[in-house]
Amino acid sequence: MTSFFLELSYLLGSITFVVGLKKLSHPETARKGNLLAAAGMGLAILATILFHEHDGERIGNIGWIVAAMGIGTFIGWTMAMKVKMTGMPQMVSFFNGMGGACAAIISIVEYHSHPEGAAGYFVVVFLGLIIGSISFSGSMVAYGKLDEKIKDFSAKWLTVFNLILLAVIIGILVVAVNSPATFGPSVLWILLAISLLYGVLFVMPIGGADMPVVISLLNSLTGMAAAFGGFLYDNQIMLTGGILVGSAGTILTVLMCKAMNRSLLNVIIGSFGGSAGGTSAAKDDQTVKEINLTDAAILCSYASKVCIVPGYGLAVAQAQHICHDLEKQLEAKGVDVYYAIHPVAGRMPGHMNVLLAEADVPYPKLIEMEDANGMMNSTDVAIIVGANDVVNPSAENDPSSPIYGMPVIQVWEAKNIIVMKRSMRSGYAGIENPLFFHAKTKMLFGDAKDTLQKLVGEVKMT
Ligand code: TAP
Repeated sequence: MTSFFLELSYLLGSITFVVGLKKLSHPETARKGNLLAAAGMGLAILATILFHEHDGERIGNIGWIVAAMGIGTFIGWTMAMKVKMTGMPQMVSFFNGMGGACAAIISIVEYHSHPEGAAGYFVVVFLGLIIGSISFSGSMVAYGKLDEKIKDFSAKWLTVFNLILLAVIIGILVVAVNSPATFGPSVLWILLAISLLYGVLFVMPIGGADMPVVISLLNSLTGMAAAFGGFLYDNQIMLTGGILVGSAGTILTVLMCKAMNRSLLNVIIGSFGGSAGGTSAAKDDQTVKEINLTDAAILCSYASKVCIVPGYGLAVAQAQHICHDLEKQLEAKGVDVYYAIHPVAGRMPGHMNVLLAEADVPYPKLIEMEDANGMMNSTDVAIIVGANDVVNPSAENDPSSPIYGMPVIQVWEAKNIIVMKRSMRSGYAGIENPLFFHAKTKMLFGDAKDTLQKLVGEVKMT
């Protein structure tokens, strides 16, 4: 009877994962989807503690389990409550790394509990260990990079060294499975050490515009590692959860590669796109034109079509609500306003969609890059709010640029361009942006929230 309840709760949990994931695909239902999937996971954990039996024995050490869950819940809850919106990408990376670490620990524990296991069993144990450790150390480096604590480091020798490390890992895996006596139990620690090192060194050189691909790849690795854990425990819900995360992460990785116009192999071994190499022609001899708030308000108020291009600066300034106010004010004056969304604007997949949904911007107003580019030449004013790399024309016309080949929002096709940012500083890729010197561009310097607040005031008076 207990196993019936256990299977039933796993089935319910799996269903909530699938339905929750479906709901995550739209900002309006994403919150509910997240809660639903979390409730399913809660149910599965509770059912495991209450009903799981092994050789007729129930789970012991309940005190330890509850204490560990209490500490984990407290840390997770506190971090999630305290994190600022701009710190979300780092936190997601950190939590992803924890998932990888759990999968690696499961493999270490399981190796010892079934020393007589068949070759297939050890393949699963070792793959869980390797992928989990790479995901853990890689995510920690990604966390450091997103938090600007770690700088990109790339060198030709590193690419070669990484390929050698990968070959060594595969070699040890093959030998350890076919001839377990060669390394004995120490194989675990050898694989753990090399995989951790590989995770660090594989993420180190990837920089600039390529980070989004790495982040989604690490997500999918953690999912795969969890799925291997599901195999080891013959646990359907762990398997389902891992497969869902792994496949969703893989799809996201493919989409991110497409968005960046790069192949995955090129991202991983190319060591290309880092901030160090940014050499877009220096514009010392050129000056930028500025615009004041009154003129900007007149330009926008008398336009027929205005496009807002949000970027990371919108998140930093927390200017999404006031941005929505500007859109409403302009629409009240008969201006058609839309948002052009670049797939890697900000610091995490869907960053701009999440921010704008939080401010209740109607979803149909968010136009994806390809469609927005088609609308750009009929647009009177493109207002760039804290975006930089995603509107950099060097991606299209400067083969020496580290972001050359990445599709961007072609704001220069609009009749007028207003750029809101605080200074002439570069964006994430660390390169200069010739757009700021373009004949159509006028700079409106200042914090995005502050500038937008003043602009809304001016628009009201126009
Ligand atoms: P960025 O190129 O990073 O540029 C953001 C700009 O916002 C900066 O130039 C900054 O200029 C400005 N800014 C910062 N704070 C501001 C504030 N308070 N008010 C006004 N402006 C402010 O952003 P983007 O165009 O969104 O491009 C995203 C970049 O991040 C891409 O290179 C992408 O590859 C990378 N990336 C993306 C992801 C994902 S998954 N989306 C993950 C990792 C990395 P000032 O300092 O002069 O104000």
